[in-house]
Amino acid sequence: MTTTVWDGVTRTLHWGLAGSSLAALGTGFLAPEWWLPWHVAAGAVAGTAVAGRGIWGLFGPGPARFGAFVLHPRAVWHHVVSAARREPRAHYGHPPAGALMAVLLLVVVAALGVSGLVAHGGREDLGPLHGVVGGAAGAGAARVHAWLAWGLLALVAGHLAGVAAESALSRDNLVRAMITGRRANAPAPGPAERRPARPRAALAAATGLAIVAAPFAVGHPVTAGRAVSPTHSAAVAPTDPAYKKACDDCHMAYPPGLLPAESWRRLMANLDDHFGENAFLMPGTKEKVRRYLTANAAGTADTEAARHFRHVDPAAPLAVTETPYWRRRHAGIAKARFKAAPVKAKSNCKACHRDATSGWFRDAAIDPPAAGGGPPRKQ
Ligand code: HEC
Ligand code: HEC
Repeated sequence: MTTTVWDGVTRTLHWGLAGSSLAALGTGFLAPEWWLPWHVAAGAVAGTAVAGRGIWGLFGPGPARFGAFVLHPRAVWHHVVSAARREPRAHYGHPPAGALMAVLLLVVVAALGVSGLVAHGGREDLGPLHGVVGGAAGAGAARVHAWLAWGLLALVAGHLAGVAAESALSRDNLVRAMITGRRANAPAPGPAERRPARPRAALAAATGLAIVAAPFAVGHPVTAGRAVSPTHSAAVAPTDPAYKKACDDCHMAYPPGLLPAESWRRLMANLDDHFGENAFLMPGTKEKVRRYLTANAAGTADTEAARHFRHVDPAAPLAVTETPYWRRRHAGIAKARFKAAPVKAKSNCKACHRDATSGWFRDAAIDPPAAGGGPPRKQ
């Protein structure tokens, strides 16, 4: 006789969370930089599923409720030991180790969501926290995010192994049970597992959460295309009219955050021999431009790019494209790619970075065709 153990909401949230987490792991670990919007979208779905599961854990039917989870360390230990001894199973809903795994998975995915939001706000100036967190906080959050992602991979492996072992010991296909909701050999439910769902309370909680979260989500761009959020850009994009007039002719006016102050000082002192060109300026203009560039040099702006471009190659301190960071980030791109149209030169940042003039160099604004992801784009 089959028994219905898992209700439709629990199953939908389970598979929604599984699918979106796998998509986020895949895009996070394997996809190129410019897939970031898809990674963020998968993360947003996973975060929503965790929030939903949290609410359903409070108001859902018995087996789905956190109240029915047996998490006591001794119970978990006994459960694992009895599995090692191949003792038969008598758990209706989650067995203790399964309940602990479910909680760990939910907590880690939630932490991935939070660290991802901070990283996205700080490093990319996008998402609900754009303009709120700085580049240093974003970089720290990104590091935590990466560690948590490895942790999630390990948990997923443990979860699959646990389900396989538990299926064998209980003589029930627990994967199918999470799909159909029904178990063939389920024992009788415990008292906590008989509690009915409170759908109206769950709906009220979900609505409340949505109302609180909506203002953060609405009006805040998740992705960056041609139009990117202007909040922080003003601080890092070349805004000084004298600078733009003087240096926007032969190449784009590089955002000042791409070189440290000392490099700008030296570059401005040698304009008559500027990469083989004469970039002569009247003394008054030259002084204005020099002051602007040094005041907004790398290290002063709090963007990911400006934090990294503080370090130059002593042998070529005036070239952005010779900095260790630039070389590292572009090491994977074929040399021919830079020479071919529409790029033509390494220094032509705009050809591959749609937001180059903003100074942000967001992942989502990298142009895959120009960067080597397909046929070159016509300009
Ligand atoms: C007469 C044309 C001309 C003008 C005007 C000019 N530049 Fe340049 N600049 C060049 C050339 C040519 C290069 C070398 C580009 C290359 O290597 O692909 C260059 C390279 C650079 C680089 C290094 C880019 C890299 O490869 O990393 C910086 C930084 C730079 N210029 C800043 C400035 C600034 C600041 C001004 C305004 C004071 C300015 N340029 C005005 C022609 C010019
Ligand atoms: C041929 C295309 C191309 C050109 C030209 C180019 N880039 Fe890039 N850039 C890329 C690609 C592709 C990546 C992503 C590399 C990766 O996967 O790590 C990247 C990454 C970056 C990053 C790191 C972005 C991040 O947030 O992870 C920065 C900063 C950057 N480029 C700055 C520049 C600057 C400054 C210039 C001009 C001086 C420039 N790039 C010229 C293709 C290009």
